[in-house]
Amino acid sequence: MIKSICCIGAGYVGGPTMAVIAQKCPHIKVTVVDLNEKRIAAWNDADTNNIPVYEPGLDVIVAEARGRNLFFSTEVDKAIEEADMIFISVNTPTKTYGVGKGMAADLKYIELCARQIARVAKTDKIVVEKSTLPVRTASAIKDILDHTGNGVQFQILSNPEFLAEGTAVSDLLSPDRVLIGGDTTPEGQKAIQALVDIYANWVSKDRILTTNVWSSELSKLTANAFLAQRVSSINAMSELCEKTGADVNEVARAIGMDSRIGPKFLKSSVGFGGSCFQKDILNLVYIAKTYGLNEVADYWEQVIIMNDHQKRRFAKNIISTLYNTVSGKKIAFLGWAFKKDTNDTRESAAIYVADDLLSEQAIISVYDPKVKEEQILLDLNYLETRSESDNKNGITVGDNPYGACKDAHAIAVLTEWDEFKNYDWKKIYDNMLKPAFVFDGRNLLDRKELEKIGFVYQSIGS
Ligand code: UDX
Ligand code: ADP
Repeated sequence: MIKSICCIGAGYVGGPTMAVIAQKCPHIKVTVVDLNEKRIAAWNDADTNNIPVYEPGLDVIVAEARGRNLFFSTEVDKAIEEADMIFISVNTPTKTYGVGKGMAADLKYIELCARQIARVAKTDKIVVEKSTLPVRTASAIKDILDHTGNGVQFQILSNPEFLAEGTAVSDLLSPDRVLIGGDTTPEGQKAIQALVDIYANWVSKDRILTTNVWSSELSKLTANAFLAQRVSSINAMSELCEKTGADVNEVARAIGMDSRIGPKFLKSSVGFGGSCFQKDILNLVYIAKTYGLNEVADYWEQVIIMNDHQKRRFAKNIISTLYNTVSGKKIAFLGWAFKKDTNDTRESAAIYVADDLLSEQAIISVYDPKVKEEQILLDLNYLETRSESDNKNGITVGDNPYGACKDAHAIAVLTEWDEFKNYDWKKIYDNMLKPAFVFDGRNLLDRKELEKIGFVYQSIGS
């Protein structure tokens, strides 16, 4: 039976996942480690409002389990040594250099973890891949562990994370399914069972699927590719709706009632973001190409091409609607996170829309309930489109929406935060330049209400 778990990586996946395991398994000691001292300090902050990942409900779980059987630490070696089971939840960004640049996953952090585990471990361990990884990564990890280890036994499991940010806690508490892939050998099956037993503390057994390692790894990429494909499909229709006079919300509702299609993930938007969709599809494309499956690769790549187009056309529409120039005009962004109820901004559509508008010399003012100025500047600087000082001059970040929208020519809604619906839109209108435009990239606001106030309102797909 597992008594001690170590999780390497205290990010959006490792933090919430381990908090829930610790809450549901008080008999297991769970230690989450990270090299990033600032991040660990934030996880240990006495005020759980300051933990580094914003997820509804997470603060309460951390408050309950932290110090009891949930610990956050920078002492990676010690936690590895103590643990029977080690989760790897480090980041696997798309490579920015060399072979597979812009496509393949960068596995250097995973490899470093594997080498560290091999060096430190003095007793048998079960190593669980939690990060999304290309198919067959498990065998690479196993190779490193077996060749550089201290002669102890390692079992590698794949246990992909399916939580969505913003709903991580409820996704973890009642998952659609838990997937565990492992070796078909008796030792492999024993390791799988050890992990099944952990989840069985709160997940019913019929929702815990066990497969071989490669099916598990590939299922994660496939699930994200299918979900992203639905968003790109409805976004493709949104452009056609705009030309034909159809309304994409009505189309989505009509097709979603077909039980074979289903209603979820049909919300047209300014484009999907997040750390997973693009990365995982690029990864899939890269793997397909590696095997010479060019048609398969092209098919999935189109999901990304459509998404890039959707972001770009949103920015273009703002420019053309504002009389073909945004130079020197203030445009207020409501939202910067890639979706509501998270402070994560990775691959957020807002970054790309802002980048396009800044290139047209717009002045952007941002308000997001959970994202800080420092992060917004980091996101823009990462693109390397212009100098850091030009980004800083082009963008201001406000601490309230009314200030952000004051004297603006237009408002662009980039994230679907609920609070945006409840603002005093009359007050916002009164303080804007006229005509006052709203570009709703999330089809969030009430067209009738805004038009009654006097706004020129444009949404996606109608
Ligand atoms: C995704 C998967 O859902 C999750 O299972 C996996 O573990 C990680 O990747 P996440 O990226 O956190 O989760 O959020 P998700 O809810 O999938 O949204 C991704 C993006 O798609 C967001 O930018 C969201 O706004 C957008 N989206 C989603 C739409 O534009 N329309 C939709 O109908 C649904
Ligand atoms: P995810 O969304 O996959 O959780 P994050 O970037 O939020 O990704 O979190 C990954 C975390 O993993 C980061 O906090 C990073 O510092 C940490 N990390 C990366 N490599 C290592 C390592 N070798 N040892 C410990 N922590 C690591």
